[in-house]
Amino acid sequence: MLLKYPKAAPLNVWLLLIALLPSLLSSCATSPKPEADAVSRGYTAERAMVVSAHPEASRIGMEIMKKGGNAYDAAVATQLALAVAFPVAGNIGGGGFMVYRGADGETGALDYRETAPGAASETMYQDSAGNVVQGLSTDGHLAVGVPGAIDGMVKIHEKLGSLPWAELVQPAIDLARNGVVLTSKEAEGLNYTKQMFISNNKHVPYLVRDKVWQSGDTLRHPDLARTLERIRDKGREGFYAGETADLFVKEMQRGGGIITHQDLQDYEAVWRAPVTGDYKGYKVISMAPPSSGGVALLQLLEMVEPFDLRTYGWQSVEAVQVMTEAERRVYADRATYLGDPDFVNVPVEQLLDEAYLKERMRSVNMSLATPSANIKAGQLPVYESDQTTHFSIVDPAGNAVSITTTLNGGYGSKVVVEGAGFLLNNEMDDFSAKPGVPNMFGLVGGKANAIQPRKRMLSSMTPTILEKDGKLYMVVGTPGGSTIITSVFQTILNVLEHDMTMQQAVAAPRFHHQWLPDEIQHEAAALLPTVEAELKRKGYELKQRGPFGRVDAILVLPNGKLEAGADPRGDDAAAGF
Ligand code: DON
Repeated sequence: MLLKYPKAAPLNVWLLLIALLPSLLSSCATSPKPEADAVSRGYTAERAMVVSAHPEASRIGMEIMKKGGNAYDAAVATQLALAVAFPVAGNIGGGGFMVYRGADGETGALDYRETAPGAASETMYQDSAGNVVQGLSTDGHLAVGVPGAIDGMVKIHEKLGSLPWAELVQPAIDLARNGVVLTSKEAEGLNYTKQMFISNNKHVPYLVRDKVWQSGDTLRHPDLARTLERIRDKGREGFYAGETADLFVKEMQRGGGIITHQDLQDYEAVWRAPVTGDYKGYKVISMAPPSSGGVALLQLLEMVEPFDLRTYGWQSVEAVQVMTEAERRVYADRATYLGDPDFVNVPVEQLLDEAYLKERMRSVNMSLATPSANIKAGQLPVYESDQTTHFSIVDPAGNAVSITTTLNGGYGSKVVVEGAGFLLNNEMDDFSAKPGVPNMFGLVGGKANAIQPRKRMLSSMTPTILEKDGKLYMVVGTPGGSTIITSVFQTILNVLEHDMTMQQAVAAPRFHHQWLPDEIQHEAAALLPTVEAELKRKGYELKQRGPFGRVDAILVLPNGKLEAGADPRGDDAAAGF
């Protein structure tokens, strides 16, 4: 069964409550959280579920499990299907992270993040005067990191999969050949990016056509189908060697890129121990460096744990303040200490130390905002057409997979490998091009995240799994660049502290603070006017921006059924049985 979540329901409930309860609101300055009722419960399934950014990808993952495949098989099939059905972020030319929890409670994580090419250098995006050249790390061939997605999928299958590899790849091949019917969001995305596709390629990529794309049009991917066939038949070698690698390197040479055959051959995804922590008896399992996501999420949860968020109320002045002050401090740590642990010493233990985090929160003054000290970096407007994608899977045995994968920006570098039909990432922008100079998400960094050959760029991706009483409880994650960490943080708190259903928790409007720029960014309707006024009075800058994040999550209900949270901000959908 495939179900598209009815988009506006939870938000409407919320807005309705605002309209109905103004007097109550002004008296307690607590935002009314969406009511937990049947209307706002997400799609539920008995035994197995996939929640992803595209209905076709969710269907394919679910069908793999119906055939007897496990969550890891479904994850491989879903990742490849997203590369076809959701090319804005789904990928074989990018990378990502998987956190998993087996039915037996064993946990692990796979880092299939891109790496800097061998010829990369610390100052490669700077001009001779040492200024960062706009666009060099974000658009075109030089922005591309060595992709990790296919080696990641192969490694997942080798270690954890159960069905034959070819059966996991075939559905994506069929989808690529038969085509995918565009939704209006996808058509808009392609039309919006048309000029950038043209200017960043020497050929006219197949994503461009004279007529504008419209919802209901079918987009076919014939070259990608052939690339996927090589991957089906040769596994890793079908991407990192042979014809695909030749087309890849030719594409690099045509456009001034620096990735070589050697870079492709050398790429290896890495198994890592996830970071784990505890929040009020829930075990939180998340991604270790080179993502900052897990460390930052655990820091945030630890820092807010002593505060009574439940009594403060959802999106109340006090709750927003406590969470913002924790976020400000955590993102300052992120900018300074986080990087690729294979290249720099990341002090994970110290960053997660309870006493340290308590000390960090000691300076919080509930009557006044703490200014983000030491603002050396410039401030870029937030780039809003960015894209990553997350999917969550639970199989009938109880294995759980949480994967966030990305090309970085929407359609990555906009470069399509001619003849191979896939988009390349612009992940190099996640490095710090120069200490203190913000990247496309306004994030600053320093030495720990400086560019070095073969190094992995720092990420915010936060694929996460929660356990309660030794049992699987939640699978959660989201895209959203720098807002990933805070979106996952809020979604977890919405369920744990504010008793929302999974669907409500995902749909509820969000806010975000990342130290620099020193402002609370928020979605429309995230904060009541009374709450905004009080926060401003205390010295907080507020900035409304477009929707951020597309959280796709699964909650295990007390009766053992699975509830989906499919983000209504996108075309996200759940499928299960
Ligand atoms: O790894 C990171 O943190 C970024 N490359 C993620 C980009 C992203 O989420 C864009 N999507 N909305």
